[in-house]
Amino acid sequence: MLKIEKINQYYKQSHTLWDISLSCEKGKCTCLMGRNGVGKTTLGKVIMGLLPIANGNLVFDGKDITKLGAHERARIGIGFVPQGREIFSSLTVRENLEIGILANRHKIKKVPEKIYELFPVLKDMGGRKGGDLSGGQQQQLAIARAMCIDPLFLILDEPSEGIQPNIVQQIGSVIDYLTKEENITVLLVEQKLPFARKHGDYFYILERGSVAANGAIEELSDQVIKQYLSV
Ligand SMILES: Nc1ncnc2c1ncn2[C@@H]1O[C@H](COP(=O)(O)OP(=O)(O)O)[C@@H](O)[C@H]1O
Ligand SMILES: [Mg+2]
Repeated sequence: MLKIEKINQYYKQSHTLWDISLSCEKGKCTCLMGRNGVGKTTLGKVIMGLLPIANGNLVFDGKDITKLGAHERARIGIGFVPQGREIFSSLTVRENLEIGILANRHKIKKVPEKIYELFPVLKDMGGRKGGDLSGGQQQQLAIARAMCIDPLFLILDEPSEGIQPNIVQQIGSVIDYLTKEENITVLLVEQKLPFARKHGDYFYILERGSVAANGAIEELSDQVIKQYLSV
């Protein structure tokens, strides 16, 4: 579904991603893990086309997308939920979703009922300002907004970060629904091991901008965790 080959990325002189190769299988959840500052968010932005790379290739659904900008990548079905959510706090919940709909690949005009079924709270709070929602509700809104483009591939950057447990659980169920029912491919940036184990199929661990380990989620051994994940 997505295949990244030997990507290198720099912030000015600072070499941040080193020869990263990674692939995501269709309809599966791949967890991107690693400590703070190892390059997870940078890689997510590179896949979305929000940051340039020095070299390497990205192939999506058999097509080379290396030279496509973020808008074009959204149009072919790559969705992104940024770390820290970045919803529009002065717009209502409904307006936030309508902005997602503007970018819908099939030019639909209305927020699909399915999205409200997955996130009932957003229907109840349609008229509330985004900024008035709790952190967990804002995260749900950010995921719902990304789903409004009707993605084939969804990048979620630490969706469980700083969020109350019951909403984390709901977000986990949505990830399961997306992969298992809708066959959507998910790249989940995640630092919480139980959440990754519960919802992930594969893992990649980054360490200082390189892939340090990867495999099926069941192969995530205590030794690997100790070496790359525990603080
Ligand atoms: N806009 C930026 N300009 C320069 N350096 C950055 C920028 N964003 C992140 N970095 C640096 O790149 C490295 C990787 O950051 P990031 O991708 O945010 O890591 P993670 O998401 O794994 O915590 C860090 O050393 C960080 O300080
Ligand atoms: Mg990050």
